[in-house]
Amino acid sequence: MKKIGRNDPCWCGCGKKYKHCHEAFDLKLAAAADAGHIVPDHSMIKTPEQIQGIKESCRINVAVLDYVSERIKAGITTEDIDRWVYEETTRLGGIPAPLNYDGFPKSVCTSIDDQVCHGIPSDKVVLKDGDIINVDVSTIYHGYFSDSSRMFCIGEVSEEKRRLVNVVKECVELGLKEVRPWGYLGDMAQAVQQHAEKNGYSVVREIGGHGVGLEFHEDPWVGYIGKKNTGMLLVPGMIFTIEPMVNMGGSDIFVNDEDGWTVYTSDGKPSAQWEIMVLVTEDGNEVLAW
Ligand code: MF3
Ligand code: CO
Repeated sequence: MKKIGRNDPCWCGCGKKYKHCHEAFDLKLAAAADAGHIVPDHSMIKTPEQIQGIKESCRINVAVLDYVSERIKAGITTEDIDRWVYEETTRLGGIPAPLNYDGFPKSVCTSIDDQVCHGIPSDKVVLKDGDIINVDVSTIYHGYFSDSSRMFCIGEVSEEKRRLVNVVKECVELGLKEVRPWGYLGDMAQAVQQHAEKNGYSVVREIGGHGVGLEFHEDPWVGYIGKKNTGMLLVPGMIFTIEPMVNMGGSDIFVNDEDGWTVYTSDGKPSAQWEIMVLVTEDGNEVLAW
């Protein structure tokens, strides 16, 4: 951290003197770092103005997911979902963040059954009775990024797949309860992992969540294998996703090397994921998008 005088303006942009704003906060961070904890740097802490902009982006993201949820059903193609997402996002003034991101060819990720994530919409993929699908929507609005995803059960879904979808949602809810200022990312990860494994499932290790807001993917990386009181310290103003991928079978995955994107379970068993965006507040957390 750069040296800053007590009477200098605070680094957070509030206009107050450092000694009347984040000085005590920085001392607390430094003490945690001295005690061996991983601490966030200032770039991970959003200003009130940035939080406002990110919330507006989130509102569009949630509206687009609502739009999809009202229309998704057996017989449509994942290309239809892509078109809905593109049209509704742009109608609301946003830009779909996945489009052209690292060469991703579509506006949304659609991942069915044993597809873990990053499925590419296609006019050849028709949704059918019994499918479970993750629709992962991300939006840029006035330069601010948002990112959240939901699972949908198409028609009559088997009891075991429906249970997977519900348990993963519970994992996110239990993880969320562990998000608080001066807590640790590992508190959240442990809650997610324990609930998934208690139910006989496995958590994907290689792919995780991320800071988000000023960029699509920011630090910190957010995993769901962890232990209480470990991992990065959480402080007010941090925004990140909770988006565990949980497999019915083993945790191994692979990437389809023909399209370079779609991630599958190695054993061919189903996988499910829900993704929320959460803000660490002074007294707990606030969900910005789901
Ligand atoms: N939305 C995904 C996430 O949750 C990222 C997708 S990257 C893309 O982080 F290029 F595939 F869109
Ligand atoms: Co994400």
